[in-house]
Amino acid sequence: MEVKVVSGDITRMKVGAVMVNLFEGVEHPGGATGAVDQALGGAITKLIAEGEIKGKLNEITLIHTLGKMETERVLVLGLGKQDKFTLDSIRTVMAGGCKFLRKLGVKRVATVVHGAGIGGVDAEKAAQAITEGSILGLYTFRKHITKEPENGEIDELLIVERDESRRSTLEQGVSRGRILAEATNFARDMINEPANYMTPSDMAEVALNVATRYGLECTVLEREEMKNLGMGALLGVAQGSKQPPKFIIINYRGGDSAKPALGLVGKGLTFDSGGISIKPSEAMDEMKGDMSGGAAVIAALRAIAEFKAKINVTGLIPATENLPGGAALKPGDVLKAMNGKTIEVVNTDAEGRLILADALCYARKLGLSPLIDVATLTGACHVALGDVCTGAMGNNREMINKVIKAGEESGEKIWQLPLFEEYKEQNKSDVADIKNTGGRWGGAITAAQFLAEFSQDTPWTHLDIAGTFFSSKERAYILKGATGVAVRTLVNFALAET
Ligand code: BES
Ligand code: MN
Ligand code: ZN
Repeated sequence: MEVKVVSGDITRMKVGAVMVNLFEGVEHPGGATGAVDQALGGAITKLIAEGEIKGKLNEITLIHTLGKMETERVLVLGLGKQDKFTLDSIRTVMAGGCKFLRKLGVKRVATVVHGAGIGGVDAEKAAQAITEGSILGLYTFRKHITKEPENGEIDELLIVERDESRRSTLEQGVSRGRILAEATNFARDMINEPANYMTPSDMAEVALNVATRYGLECTVLEREEMKNLGMGALLGVAQGSKQPPKFIIINYRGGDSAKPALGLVGKGLTFDSGGISIKPSEAMDEMKGDMSGGAAVIAALRAIAEFKAKINVTGLIPATENLPGGAALKPGDVLKAMNGKTIEVVNTDAEGRLILADALCYARKLGLSPLIDVATLTGACHVALGDVCTGAMGNNREMINKVIKAGEESGEKIWQLPLFEEYKEQNKSDVADIKNTGGRWGGAITAAQFLAEFSQDTPWTHLDIAGTFFSSKERAYILKGATGVAVRTLVNFALAET
């Protein structure tokens, strides 16, 4: 879908549908909605008076113009209560409106700039949110469905603004929104791909392609090199699978070469069966998405490169499968991580922290700082926070706050969990330096406390996306399946560091 900014009069657009809006409780719409109401001979005011249009968030009212306007239809989108209105309301209503019109087979759509009037939102940010909500909301993953889809696609979305002087500002917003949304959809594609189409080798290939296309450097370390580097924890996880592990390194250089690069580390478990500590079969298929953190990092680097951000960023993605093959890791085995620490593996299903341990050591060896890791790490985080927000933990409060803020801007909710010293106790082993599970209580925290042993004194934030990487229901621009969570947070964080 193309998104264009046009200067003109919303009441005169020759399109399949025009989208206007209404805040809850408004009886006499002004601005663009008022103008459209007039063109329709007061139809909107009448429907409000009759109680058919209330302006509630996500409410969609279709009005056929029957020759009164050049557009065939008008869609009135409810924006909800004005005091609860945010950029995320804009993303939400645009996703709803676009999905509705796609079902009707509409090809060309025009919209007003929601929120820029009485909503009081910055025009550039509004245009960005319009673009993001539309592109994210219209996402589909039909690669493996041979049947033709019932509805076609919307070809064109026009953002209509009367004031010609605001055009370049709006275009700036559209461009930002498109980069962020398309990167997120790119991550969704990788995550939704079944594990037999997204092996560690496939993931490395995707990263190499992104690098070629967007001008990044990409190196992939093979098993032999990992051995030489002493990545015993990552190799331990990989030994139960026939698929060779890959350690993906992507570099973006846009900033001062004297400054350390921001390090983004993503868990790249292309399938997590649990290994010998095998998972129950129920919902095990979702574990094709255990590389969501890695996908988010690759997608974020793509967007950062498109933004030509003035910063240096390195992405590290340890990629492997966790399978119970004949050579697999066994409960009780002891592994040695790259920094020499020994780990007792009490549960082979706590594999994410093992591969991240080596990746964090490698990040420190490269001198990256600060570090953010993104991982579908613990079911415990899902239990604690549900599927509404991502868990954040780390060793630097100031940095965590910046990550949370980067999330807020993108509509991604993040909540901090504590990393008190006392939790370390649970990771103590009788036979090695540390063990890979801390028992049932506080599982998200003890997992992060394990990672803290490898990030050491580098400023570091860990994002546990186990509850948010996948959605079982459709919620505006979050569709069923992969959400692509964290991509926009990572990009906003990087942009804020420039
Ligand atoms: N990838 C899983 C965590 C997960 C579960 C993510 C469900 C998304 C949805 C991770 O590798 C895992 O298995 N964690 C274990 C840790 C436990 C053995 C200490 C868990 O959470 O059960
Ligand atoms: Mn696991
Ligand atoms: Zn896992």
